[in-house]
Amino acid sequence: MWPRSALMLAALALAAGAALWGQSAGSPQNPPEDLPPGPLQSKAITACMECHDARIILQQSLSKPAWTREVDKMMKWGALVDPNDRDALIDYLSTNFGADRPPYRAPRLAAAKPQTRTVKK
Ligand code: HEC
Repeated sequence: MWPRSALMLAALALAAGAALWGQSAGSPQNPPEDLPPGPLQSKAITACMECHDARIILQQSLSKPAWTREVDKMMKWGALVDPNDRDALIDYLSTNFGADRPPYRAPRLAAAKPQTRTVKK
């Protein structure tokens, strides 16, 4: 038998978790991340954020040949990149998201504080 207070604590923890979950979805504390500044930033936003947000780009660490394949693939899929901008765009991406940069740390959707949970056995 669970003591009454333990059940109450478990219920409270669940309720707090539910409240945090509700707040985190699309809340203004988690604005979409942006592509870094640079002469190609606005073109990259126009060409590359039509189908997905910036995070899919921000989390990459790719060599220049890999970025070349990536940009060509996205253009084949419909990304509107002016052929005159293709090389500069590949430079911009491989400079900012090259293979030797520190690992990307994904922002958490939930609040930063660890949640305490009561685990039933
Ligand atoms: C026509 C729609 C579209 C456009 C425009 C587009 N992408 Fe994508 N992109 C996709 C799809 C679909 C995926 C796969 C998504 C997934 O796996 O969840 C993807 C995935 C990616 C990935 C993850 C690796 C991979 O290949 O799956 C990267 C990096 C990426 N895109 C970069 C870019 C860049 C840079 C541009 C601008 C030059 C761009 N995308 C424009 C549709 C697009």
